[in-house]
Formats: sequence, structure tokens, C-alpha cells
Amino acid sequence: MSIQLRGLHKGFGSKKILRGLDLDVDEGETMSLVGFSGAGKSLTLKHIVGLMKPDAGTVHVDGLEVPTLPREKLFKLRLDMGYVFQFAALFDSMTIGENIAMGLRKKGGMTQAQIRERVEESLALVDLAGFSSRFPQEMSGGQQKRAGLARAIAYRPKYLLYDEPTSGLDPVTTTVIDRLVLRMKKELGVTSLVITHDMKSAYAISDRIGMLYEGRLVEVGTPQEFQESRNPIVRAFVEGEPGLKHDAEEPLPMGGDGAAGKGRKR
Ligand SMILES: Nc1ncnc2c1ncn2[C@@H]1O[C@H](COP(=O)(O)OP(=O)(O)O)[C@@H](O)[C@H]1O
Ligand SMILES: [Mg+2]
Repeated sequence: MSIQLRGLHKGFGSKKILRGLDLDVDEGETMSLVGFSGAGKSLTLKHIVGLMKPDAGTVHVDGLEVPTLPREKLFKLRLDMGYVFQFAALFDSMTIGENIAMGLRKKGGMTQAQIRERVEESLALVDLAGFSSRFPQEMSGGQQKRAGLARAIAYRPKYLLYDEPTSGLDPVTTTVIDRLVLRMKKELGVTSLVITHDMKSAYAISDRIGMLYEGRLVEVGTPQEFQESRNPIVRAFVEGEPGLKHDAEEPLPMGGDGAAGKGRKR
């Protein structure tokens, strides 16, 4: 039960994004992947779930080579992977309960009563017990993110992949989400990969942190090792120092808050 990327290359036209990326997420660990906007973090996740095929290199999940899996095997593997999207991606026309139940019905093998029970259990795990008949618009941004997490864990996946679970949230709500990430590990024993550019979150939730820069990991280590890293790229990122090239296409923001890569959203 682990994720292993080796020599991953991916580009679009002349733009090379991933350039020989090696990444391991070991069984039961929470690994955070950090890096400037446009570094290829979301792209890396898409390779793991098989939404994107590499130009070169290998992607293994649970010992299976994802890019070469036949469709049915890929769909089966995906049931083991909970994907928490950057934006909650809930259907507005459905209640939270229906949003969560929909995937469970598709998966099959559960009675209506079991589905209802699983929906309630999942909502309780993210402290949203009793919210199943609410519509997404009736909830705050933080509650919607938690509902997105409830949907991802409803399958009881072995893996949880989070894409910027705290982006756009205030510091208090961010802490709530961080605690939930820790709780999922503890109570469900999942193997997790969390994409974030919030270093405070990364330090709080991770067993290990990796920084993606120019298509590879420039640093991998425990939160403490990361904090003590002398790597100038890591220091610049952690300290939000402008002046490092972080996106070939975009000029660095001048003036304003001047914090390269911090708080920049696409
Ligand atoms: N399907 C695609 N077609 C073309 N370019 C893409 C595609 N997906 C991602 N990219 C480019 O790859 C780069 C990395 O994107 P992404 O992984 O989303 O970055 P981030 O680290 O911010 O998540 C960006 O420059 C983006 O424009
Ligand atoms: Mg992204």
C-alpha cells in the first residue's frame, strides 16, 4: 500500500513541467508536497489517479502500474483513492447527503440503509453530523471543504489525495482541516498525499514533506529537517522571499505584498 513515482516526465508542447520526478509515499504516512504555483503539484496527483499519462517514467500504486492499467482495473483502483479537490466540487442541486451517497451507489454492493449509515458516519468524522439534508449553498466554505472530505472518505479508501485542502480558508478553519487530516490518518489508517503551499499546515500534518521545484523534488524530509534545511530554494519558499524563478511563464509579482508563490491562486 504505497505510491511510487520514478523518473516521471511530463510536458505540454515545449513546456517541460515534470522532469524526472521521484516520489514515494509509504504505507500509512502523510506526505505533503509543497512548491510554487505552477510547479506541477496538481499534475502529479493527476498521474497518480490515472487522469494523466506520463511522457516517460513510472507510476505505481499498490504495486500496480497506473498508466498501463486497463480501464476496469483503473476504475477499481480508483475506488481505493479518495480525492479531495481544491474546490469542494459538490453538486449544488443535491443535498450533502445525496452528494456523498451518489458515489456509494455507483460503487455498488451496499443497501440503501447501509449507504445512509455510511453517509452519516462520514459526516460525523468531519464534524458535520446532522448536515446531510443541507445544500452546499447553505454551508460556509470551510463546511463545504469538510463535506468534500466526507465524500472522499465515504468509500473507506486506502489513499487520500488532497489538493490544497486549506486554500482560501481563514487560519481557524485551516486548523480545523489540519486536525481532520490528522484524524483521518489516525482513525482510518490511510496513506495520504497532501498538496499545499501552506507551510504551517505542512509542518502540522506531515510525517514527511517534499518540495517540488523545476520538475523534481529538491528536498524531502521530516518537518524538522525541512525547517532546518539550508537549501536556498527551500528557504526562499518557506520564508516567502520574492526573486526566485518559480513559473517560467509568469513574471514575478512586483510590489504589492511581494510574497512570491504565497497565496497566489489560479
Ligand atoms: N492539461 C494541461 N494542458 C496544458 N498545460 C497544463 C495542463 N495541466 C497542467 N498544465 C500546466 O502545467 C503546469 C503545472 O500545473 P499544476 O500542476 O496545476 O501546478 P500546481 O503546482 O500549481 O498545482 C502549469 O503551468 C499548467 O499550466
Ligand atoms: Mg494545483
